[in-house]
Parts: sequence; C-alpha cells; structure tokens
Amino acid sequence: MDKTKLFTKIKLRELVLKNRVVVSPMCQYMAVDGHVQDWHLAHHSRFALGGVGLAFVEATGVTRNGRITHGCTGIWNDQHISGLRKIVDLYKSQNVAVGIQIGHAGRRASAARPWDGAQPIENGELDEAPWECFAPSAIPEQHGHPTPRCMTTSDIQETIDAFALATQRALDAGFDTIEIHGAHGYLIHSFFSPISNQRKDAYGGDLYKRMQFPLRVTEAVREIWPKEMPLFYRVSAVDGVPGGISIEDTAELAKELKSRGVDVIDCSSGGMTKPATLSKEKLARGYQVPYADYIRSAVGIKTMAVGLIIEPQEAEDILQNEQADLVAIAREMISNPNWTYHAALELDTDNPHDVLPDSYAFHLARRDHNLIAKSRSGN
Ligand SMILES: Cc1cc2nc3c(=O)[nH]c(=O)nc-3n(C[C@H](O)[C@H](O)[C@H](O)COP(=O)(O)O)c2cc1C
Repeated sequence: MDKTKLFTKIKLRELVLKNRVVVSPMCQYMAVDGHVQDWHLAHHSRFALGGVGLAFVEATGVTRNGRITHGCTGIWNDQHISGLRKIVDLYKSQNVAVGIQIGHAGRRASAARPWDGAQPIENGELDEAPWECFAPSAIPEQHGHPTPRCMTTSDIQETIDAFALATQRALDAGFDTIEIHGAHGYLIHSFFSPISNQRKDAYGGDLYKRMQFPLRVTEAVREIWPKEMPLFYRVSAVDGVPGGISIEDTAELAKELKSRGVDVIDCSSGGMTKPATLSKEKLARGYQVPYADYIRSAVGIKTMAVGLIIEPQEAEDILQNEQADLVAIAREMISNPNWTYHAALELDTDNPHDVLPDSYAFHLARRDHNLIAKSRSGN
C-alpha cells in the first residue's frame, strides 16, 4: 500500500484529485485580446502529460481592463470560452482536474510583460496602448506610477457582476474548479489591505469593511458555481510591509470565506507595493508554508502551500506534517513538467510509472526492468 500523502487522493466536494500535486497558476502573457493561443495548449500539454492531480490556468481577466498586460488571458466575453475549453479538454483527456484562476488586476493593470520590464505602459511604448486603471482608492502602487481612479459604487457592482459572468463562462468551458485571485496586490487584495484601501464607505475602514468586496465577489461566484464543485481562493497571507495585513487578519478573512463556501485557501503572500513573483529578494525554500499551516489550524479549512517547494520530499513533509492539504508548484514545474513522475520515483511509490500516460509508462517501465541494476544512475 502506498504510504505517501502526495499520492493519496483527495476529495474536494465531489471532485476527486488523483494526487495532491497542483500546477500553480502562471501567466504566459501570450494571449491575443484575451484569447488562448497554440502556445497555451503546448504549455498545458506538458503538465497534462506529467501526471499532476490538478492544474490551474493562469490569472484570467474578468474584464478587458482587469487584465494585467495585453498578453493576459480573458474571460470577459463568450468568445473566450472555446479557447479555454481546448485547455480543459486537454487535461480531461489525461484524467487531470483543471481549474481557472479568475481575477482583476485593479491598479496593477496596464503593465508591460515581465520581459519588457513589468512597469505601467507609457503612451506609445511597445506599440501597445495603456488603459485607465481603477482601485479602491486613488493611491498609486509606487511613487511615479499612474494614479488609479477611485472606484464608484457602480464600478464595484459592475466588477462583482463581471466575476459572476466569468464564473458562468468557466462552467460552460468545463472547468472543475475556480480559484478567485485575492492576492498579489491586484484588485481584490487591494480592497483588503489598508495600504491600498482608504475608503470611508461600506467597502473601506476596519477589517470587516475591507473584507466586503472580497466577500461580495466570493458570494457572487459561489452563487453560480455548482454546490458539488470546489472553490479555491488565493490570499496574500501577509503584505510583508509596515501597516499591511497580518496573518491574523487573513485568518479572519478565511473564516468568512469558509462560511461562504470557499473550500481551499491557497496561501501566497506579498505584492502590495511591488510584484510578488518578480521580486529579487532572497527567500528560503517553502517560505510561505507557515501561512498555510497557520490558516489551516486557526480556521479549520483546507489549505494549499506554494512558493519555492522544489524537492518531492519537501512537498511530502508539508503534507505529512499537516501544514497543508495540497502543494502547488510553479517554476519547478516549468523546469520539469514530469515533476510528479520523478516525485513518485523518489518517494518510492508502488507503481511510479503509472503516473504517466500508458504510451510513456510502458517504455520507461520496460527500460527499468531491463536495467541490470535498479538504480536510475545505473550504479
Ligand atoms: C511565470 C509565472 C507566472 C505567474 N502567474 C501567476 C498567476 O497568474 N496567478 C498567480 O496567482 N500567481 C502567479 N504566479 C505565482 C505562482 O503561481 C507561484 O505562486 C510562485 O511562482 C511561487 O511558486 P514557485 O516557487 O513554485 O514558482 C506566477 C509565477 C510565475 C513564475
């Protein structure tokens, strides 16, 4: 019997994942007017064939203005559904569950792609026009960045409605789950953090007022998303800057999210004053795992750990120590899309080749059988 936790199934509502390895959402910046391109199919095929339990499609804009860059995928239009469905079909053909992260970039919209500097687009630069950003308050992310327009209550309502419409489209495309992007300084997170939200109305002020927009979005998504299907929510568990949100604040939010039908809190961090994933800061392996651990025990909700989880044994230890229920991997998955297969080998599971499709598994199993010595290095 297989003793690993990484390869133990998990049931989230009626969705059963064959293992606990999750591909974290990763923007590709390769879409055209929000539409999926061949690149996305090639990119996702790598993970679909590698045997993960669940994969997320990148942060996908619920409105055109809610994209981070001109290259981000969108779900603001019914025309986007067919491209997204191709990604879904690809994963389903390999018995891999697939989700989509939906979001709105808020004051961090209208940016250049990472390899073009990730800064706000200036007029005429790169032949791509900037667009107006909005946010809970008219506070730029950094000194020198454009000042976003302060959202009116009708902007707020329209954006909540856009999340609901996006949810219906995700359902029509065939996704198994949705993740609400509530992290990394984008719109939802920017309502929650006092650094970016200084409103005096029902959507700003104390912790509970700052939660209102995230909660209204979640309620709108949950109302459309079927009861038997799970819902993820990505938090920036801490802002990591003075005056920002703390892990205790996030635990309060997670309690409210849980009562509104969120099943898994995906625990990231940062992004309030600079892009979280483009940081040059030195970080330790598994640096965000303590957040997943804290939220899991303080709130009694399933969590997903993410961030510099590289070795299979590290992932297994997180699950064995009950610090999280799922492990999300981004960059290491780009480096090695067969990570799950290598994890199965390294953790000495019963039938590691079974992680892969038959047409790969058969030949690797036969090769290993043919080898005189069992060690992969041939020693
Ligand atoms: C190319 C790239 C694109 C990313 N896009 C997203 C995204 O769309 N949504 C999101 O929440 N995080 C995004 N992230 C962050 C990852 O999901 C993940 O949280 C982060 O990279 C840490 O995990 P890792 O150390 O395994 O890479 C992205 C990261 C990378 C490297």
